[in-house]
Amino acid sequence: MANKTERIEEILAKYLPKEEGWQKNVIEAMNYSVTAGGKRLRPMLMEETYKLFGGNGTEIEPFMAAIEMIHTYSLVHDDLPAMDNDEYRRGRKTTHVVYGEAMAILAGDGLLNFAFETALKVFETEADKTRAAKALAVLAKKAGIYGMIGGQTADIEAENIGDKVTEEHLLFIHEHKTAALIQASMMIGAILAGADEEQVEVVEKAAYDIGVAFQIQDDILDVTSTLETLGKPVGSDEKNNKTTYVTLKGLETASCEQKEMSAHAISLLESLNMENMFLMELISSLITRIK
Ligand code: IPE
Ligand code: IPE
Ligand code: MG
Ligand code: MG
Ligand code: MG
Repeated sequence: MANKTERIEEILAKYLPKEEGWQKNVIEAMNYSVTAGGKRLRPMLMEETYKLFGGNGTEIEPFMAAIEMIHTYSLVHDDLPAMDNDEYRRGRKTTHVVYGEAMAILAGDGLLNFAFETALKVFETEADKTRAAKALAVLAKKAGIYGMIGGQTADIEAENIGDKVTEEHLLFIHEHKTAALIQASMMIGAILAGADEEQVEVVEKAAYDIGVAFQIQDDILDVTSTLETLGKPVGSDEKNNKTTYVTLKGLETASCEQKEMSAHAISLLESLNMENMFLMELISSLITRIK
């Protein structure tokens, strides 16, 4: 795991923009948040799904960097005063605290756009052009209003409405704000390795379970962990009057349900009859993660 994370860091570093010119400040703010660390889960899931389907080229690399840029931009904006208003992320002061709100908004915008500039470098590799185009379409959709942005919208609008949030409503939020980028990661890995449509559908379903389970654990850690361990504040959900899996169902049921979802994801992936032990172990490890 440590080796793989280090490799992902190297790939990311290769694609980050140079801090120069009149844009220097915004580029510094972009790189500040990306280089702060983080688990690098999405590029890891992407590469491991690519390997699951026999992929062994380098065309996956621009997409690995791109998904981490989009994820990081979502965090920079998520932490803004107008959204969750949090002061720590990945063990550092948040981007808006260090660079100011205007630069944090622009750094997020910059990362989103630069993610596509980066992913488009796939056409400078040996990649199959049709697969590359399909992967780009998935990246665009799952990050947008039918994906992450849609989920963040519903998350913000569900603040302060307490028990009006039903399980169905919360599942919409978790599916979109969190599972969508995990689906994009795994689907892109599958598509670039040449998986057929049916296989990509199975991956999309499995990634739904992985993503929702991941957000349930995030909700749990928001009440059970500490700032030191998480690198971000605890109690953020309560502060913002969010309905979470924990407020809706209690810690114990939340924990049970995320385990069930994770097991379901693994059995879906096993039904593909492909082998990647590391991927299966990675998915299992997420339900007991402490950060
Ligand atoms: C945090 O994601 C935001 C959620 C979708 C729960 P991660 O827990 O993957 O954050 P990093 O990338 O490790 O910082
Ligand atoms: C955010 O969910 C998911 C994103 C798309 C950023 P949270 O607001 O719970 O994420 P954290 O806890 O701040 O990382
Ligand atoms: Mg949030
Ligand atoms: Mg937040
Ligand atoms: Mg959270």
